[in-house]
Amino acid sequence: MTTVMGFPEDIRAVAAELLAQDSVTIVSHIDADGITGEAILAQALSRAGVTVQSVFVRQLEPLTMRQVPKDETFKLFCDLGAGQQNLLAEHGLSEDEVAIIDHHVSQPCGRDYLQVNCLPYGHTKLSAAGVAYLVARAIDSGNTDLARIAVIGNIGDMMAREDCGLVGIARDIAQEGAEHGAIEIRQRDLNCYGISTRPLHLCLSYTDDPFIPGISTNAAGALRFLEKLEVPLKDSARRWLVWEEIPPEDRRAITSALAQQLLANGQGISRLFSESYLFPGEPERTPLRNAQEFATLLNACGRWSRPRVGGSICRGDRGSAYREAEHMLTNHRAIIRELLQFILDSGVTELSHLQYIHVGNRYPDTIVGIGAGMALSKLAMHKPILIMVAQPEDPELTKVSLRTTNRMVEQGVDLQQVATEASAKFGGAGGGHRIAAGAFIPRGAEQEFVFHVNELLAGQCPCPGTGHR
Ligand code: C5P
Repeated sequence: MTTVMGFPEDIRAVAAELLAQDSVTIVSHIDADGITGEAILAQALSRAGVTVQSVFVRQLEPLTMRQVPKDETFKLFCDLGAGQQNLLAEHGLSEDEVAIIDHHVSQPCGRDYLQVNCLPYGHTKLSAAGVAYLVARAIDSGNTDLARIAVIGNIGDMMAREDCGLVGIARDIAQEGAEHGAIEIRQRDLNCYGISTRPLHLCLSYTDDPFIPGISTNAAGALRFLEKLEVPLKDSARRWLVWEEIPPEDRRAITSALAQQLLANGQGISRLFSESYLFPGEPERTPLRNAQEFATLLNACGRWSRPRVGGSICRGDRGSAYREAEHMLTNHRAIIRELLQFILDSGVTELSHLQYIHVGNRYPDTIVGIGAGMALSKLAMHKPILIMVAQPEDPELTKVSLRTTNRMVEQGVDLQQVATEASAKFGGAGGGHRIAAGAFIPRGAEQEFVFHVNELLAGQCPCPGTGHR
């Protein structure tokens, strides 16, 4: 990496290089972090008078490298590239035509590509969109309106999950958005997905972090629990209230009853609360109202090959792009529910430190990790889950996704390390994060790969606990 001086210096170096260009091609990832990162960079560059075009890829690998144009434009990689620098070199990209904005582990490479990466500086809870925002602000200090998009990227990449809120630079970005008036930060809010769109009892029944006995996975139980508290659950039009709309005193009554329920079952209450990031300027009762649900909307677009629709929504389109995204979100949820059921019905194969399943070619490789992560909360949570899926466009290649829990990460599990090392052993390539990682491997190596992953996990965490169920 060029000029390893410090994170702020790297940010300024990339911003200066970008401002010196006439024309930039952004190559970004199809997930919420990649879509928001691209939206931030493209807007910052256009505002600065730089011509921008964008390409989205599901992963940087030899097949998708073909989408990176061989032309005169400067290539700006976002949310990918750090771990694939040798591939960039093989593609013939020289040092003076590339910059990388990333938060993944960097690959040693003979070429000294200009890069800004938060990871080597110890900022482990910052996503690529977060780094992109810092670059955008270095391009022009007036770009603080883009903070909201960066928060969505950070949340979408699960940067808040471990600490029940954004921390460090990512939290500072949220604060900037709040000062700009675009974000309402609610501290010690309910740690629950769907606070702007789901009736509260459903919201609670889907929650498994923390797992609340009698409520999690039990919508009828959750409703009975709430009814006993005698707080209004419907509005004057007899519509179910969503959490966001419930008055503060009723919210307090509900969280304190939930805390008692956890304590009565001998469980801690720290994960009952988390910070939430609401967008008061967006229409009520829509997924646009908070960072978590907004990120899911973008993921639905990206994972179903329409990242540009997500990009339009980040740029403010609330018309045709939003309607299309809503449709994709419905479809996304239905297929993931089906995949979850498929995993539970088919059952996983258990090894000493791993559980795994192969889903053939039934599901797109872009969503299997999401389904596996959801299935994990209904399976033995102390064993990471590995899911394999065939690649219709390349029958010799298998996509692998790995997921685990915070608790296992605390005990030493590092799926990024496992995915990278195990895939490299069989001539594949992988990466990701401690809690969620992925890889592509040769189809013929599937069985040996799985055994090797199990061995590596045994080395990281020799005596896995039994989880909380
Ligand atoms: O695809 P999946 O959702 O399982 O990816 C989980 C994480 O692993 C993501 O951060 C993704 O960028 C990373 N990954 C990777 N290399 C792959 C596949 C996934 O770095 N070949």
